[in-house]
Amino acid sequence: MSSSNSAARIAAAIEQRFGERINPQAEAPGSNEIARMLEHCTHRKWTDRALTPELLRLLCAAALSAPSKSDLQQTDIVNVVDRAERAAIVATIDDMGWIMDAPVFLVFCGNNRRLRLMSQWQGTPFPNDHLDQFFNAACDAAMIMAAFIQAAEAAGLGCCPVSHVRNHADKVSEVLGLPRWVFPFAGLCVGYPARGNRITPRLPLAVTLHTDRYDESNLREQIARYDARRHMLQPYGRQRDPQRFGKLEQYGWSADKARQYAVEERASFGGYVRRQGFRLD
Ligand SMILES: Cc1cc2nc3c(=O)[nH]c(=O)nc-3n(C[C@H](O)[C@H](O)[C@H](O)COP(=O)(O)O)c2cc1C
Repeated sequence: MSSSNSAARIAAAIEQRFGERINPQAEAPGSNEIARMLEHCTHRKWTDRALTPELLRLLCAAALSAPSKSDLQQTDIVNVVDRAERAAIVATIDDMGWIMDAPVFLVFCGNNRRLRLMSQWQGTPFPNDHLDQFFNAACDAAMIMAAFIQAAEAAGLGCCPVSHVRNHADKVSEVLGLPRWVFPFAGLCVGYPARGNRITPRLPLAVTLHTDRYDESNLREQIARYDARRHMLQPYGRQRDPQRFGKLEQYGWSADKARQYAVEERASFGGYVRRQGFRLD
């Protein structure tokens, strides 16, 4: 891929993603990889083409090379190969039967267990039994999943993360045999995508990129404009809960997210995390 081609891809992707025009340098280093990242898209349909075990192992190795908080290495990846086991996990999730179609299904887990065991083995005190332990392991798992997606997309694959594995985290932990201090962060479907990329618009950089100080001036107007842009480019196919909230002429991102979180979701997760041994004080 020539770098001037990458520059055109970068400009097109930024406009589609953020509604902003830029004029990228034709010869900028890394522009092919940056263009690919800007063109990221979640995929939920895959061809039948299988991944080779070697490629999957390579992608896991690349992902597990991501930075790790204090070099603690608090992430594990479970490759769910057994169909019945995957079905048992999917049975805990409403309306996501397509997870069964993915050639590969992984579960990324936060793991604070090894650190606790090493403290026991070394006979050292552990005066750190508080929220930060859970947070560190969860953040590491997120970084490693993101790195996996980046590597997979570079190899021509498409992925869909599945946070819904946390809906019934006790059951999923039982299926995966997760011990104390290990928890599912997210599932990940992986395969060769059946469709091309569709760039989902994001909030403008004026909202999410700050200089020196956090700034939310004009936030409401910015979000209204983003809602309108999204509605024009990728209108939602259906509105959530119209009986409860009515049908809107222009149903934007902010209405969708507000309605999504007007229903209790995953309220049992805190209890599950505590049962896995974490104190969250
Ligand atoms: C941590 C995480 C969990 C997600 N969980 C789900 C999920 O359970 N089901 C799903 O269909 N998509 C899930 N997604 C995908 C998001 O819906 C998707 O990234 C978002 O709509 C933006 O689309 P894009 O990735 O194509 O830009 C998840 C994404 C992340 C980062």
